[in-house]
Amino acid sequence: MSVTTHQLAQWKQQGRAIVALTAWDYALAHVLDEAGVDLILVGDSLAMVALGYDTTLPITLDEILHHAKAVRRGVKRALLVADLPFMSYQESVQQALHSAGRALKETGVQAVKLEGGNPAIVATVAQLVQAGIPVVGHVGLTPQAVHRLGYRQQGKSPETAEHILAEAIALENAGAFAIVLEHIPTDLAHQITQKLTIPTIGIGAGPHCDGQVLVTADLLGLSVHQPPFAKSYINLRETITQAVQAYGAEVREGTFPPG
Ligand code: KIV
Repeated sequence: MSVTTHQLAQWKQQGRAIVALTAWDYALAHVLDEAGVDLILVGDSLAMVALGYDTTLPITLDEILHHAKAVRRGVKRALLVADLPFMSYQESVQQALHSAGRALKETGVQAVKLEGGNPAIVATVAQLVQAGIPVVGHVGLTPQAVHRLGYRQQGKSPETAEHILAEAIALENAGAFAIVLEHIPTDLAHQITQKLTIPTIGIGAGPHCDGQVLVTADLLGLSVHQPPFAKSYINLRETITQAVQAYGAEVREGTFPPG
């Protein structure tokens, strides 16, 4: 049975941490799902880690949907969420409804994530939720705003911390069922996690969130550029290089395939 949005809320109450990771294709999604990941995000970070762009901005809704369909085929248990990419929801509520509707109808993801917490985004989240579309919010460092914010930690001053807290509360009130807190101080993430009834999922936000998410390419040691707060649990780049070189050597020596 698939993890549900209600289950995530229950896990917050029970103090059971939510394990989230990103995926961009069938094979990876299948492994993550069988390994027991609770929430799989078809994050727009795939623009950088799988498509080689410098930022998340160029990826289109059609590209996200293409990857989400492949991920969907690999996931049985985890709750599946897709990012709405840059400028697929910021123009108007109508545009957001159209984009999120396409995501749910065409790919089978169960929810969408969108970035930011200004009043226009909060109003959009409320409309999506009213239409029956579950939404994950995302505040703090929002990579779609890289040209305004850079990749710096957000919420360091009391004023900006207060602002991020207010955005998180507004997103909860608009009906978001969970919220990603990216690259904000540990104390601020702790405060938001205590204030909200919906689960917080941290990335670079310290240990006091209700769950954690990593970009899977970072976890696997496959990213070309890795943020300082990410952790690699294996150096797959090195492992793959060794395997490829071993194959190359055997082909050149004539020992593979065996005679
Ligand atoms: O796109 C992504 O991978 C994300 C995570 C960093 C949460 O939004």
